[in-house]
Amino acid sequence: MSIILSLETSCDESAVALVSNENGKIELLANEIASQIEEHARWGGVVPEIASRRHLENLPFLIEQAFLKSKLQIKDVDAVAATVTPGLAGSLLVGSITARTIANLHQIPFLGIHHLEGHLSSIYLAKTHPKPPFLVLLVSGGHTELIKVDIEHQYHRLGRSHDDAAGEAFDKVARLLGLSYPGGPAIQKIAKCGDPKRFLFPKGRVSKPEGGFYPYDFSFSGLKTAVFRQIDKLNSANTKLPTEDIAASFENVVAEVLVERSLRCALDQGLNSIVLVGGVAANERLRKMMIEKASKNSIRIALAPMEFCTDNAAMIGAAALVRLSSKNYQSSMELGVSARWPLEKSDLLYDFNPPF
Ligand code: KG4
Ligand code: ZN
Repeated sequence: MSIILSLETSCDESAVALVSNENGKIELLANEIASQIEEHARWGGVVPEIASRRHLENLPFLIEQAFLKSKLQIKDVDAVAATVTPGLAGSLLVGSITARTIANLHQIPFLGIHHLEGHLSSIYLAKTHPKPPFLVLLVSGGHTELIKVDIEHQYHRLGRSHDDAAGEAFDKVARLLGLSYPGGPAIQKIAKCGDPKRFLFPKGRVSKPEGGFYPYDFSFSGLKTAVFRQIDKLNSANTKLPTEDIAASFENVVAEVLVERSLRCALDQGLNSIVLVGGVAANERLRKMMIEKASKNSIRIALAPMEFCTDNAAMIGAAALVRLSSKNYQSSMELGVSARWPLEKSDLLYDFNPPF
């Protein structure tokens, strides 16, 4: 059995988990999160400087809590993992330095984890999960990507957003509607009472220079502008803003676009499983629509468990366990952090000469 202590500090959640792997089954032994959302909400988004300071204050307390709740001690831990890319550099540094210090002190391996591989690994925390090959729809506050996984740790990006990520669109539209940050849960809540067909918002497409469209790519900035124009028009006419209907119509079109392009991509690639992960994967309309439309095409859907869709350290621990058990991957203590790094090159995080 291996036990991993994992840290996640790439954005506005400070998180610590203890996870174990017994005969290929990943178990969660402790999962602590200190959300900074309320503090950032008053600024309408994440303030990097505040985020890194809070991570620094939160981590020691969360690590202590994780050990207390799991009744484990540091001597039981086989390796320490932390998110090292992508994310806010200052925030990543707090988690990475903490993890490397613990690993150094206790002479155990350190694994730097790619945040998107972490999201992808949230699927291992579900009761059942598909084996590669499969298609991943990764939808978060910073990313909207369609990734083909041929074999473990081999990623091939087939689609992406050319502007806003889906979660970012939720956050921006929520702000236009005067709702709180993060926008996804706020929009979902009021959309339940709205008419999703009342407003026809555009399904942004990305043109190819030679004509036609990229079939698996996304664009959400035009949609956000269309919502803004609609609100402006209603305000100019002194009409009471039908906030619920706007939220429902917006949420519906985002879900339709994500589902339609994922299915198209899976069918074209001959893949019969789609894995849905990331913060926006917590959206109930998206989950329901994905399952309904996929079943008509004989495609199986694996949903990340609701509690592991948004940022958490359990998914980072799961990623580390899979890395450790597949080829005994370990990172150099010299590995730093990077605001950006392609998922396709995540193997290099385990290189003797690290890339950053
Ligand atoms: O994965 P995540 O926690 O952080 C990133 O790695 O970006 O995703 C956060 C994003 C936010 O934009 C938030 O508005 C969105 O996920 N989100 C949702 C829901 N819950 C969180 N979007 C739609 N519906 C939800 N229920
Ligand atoms: Zn994330």
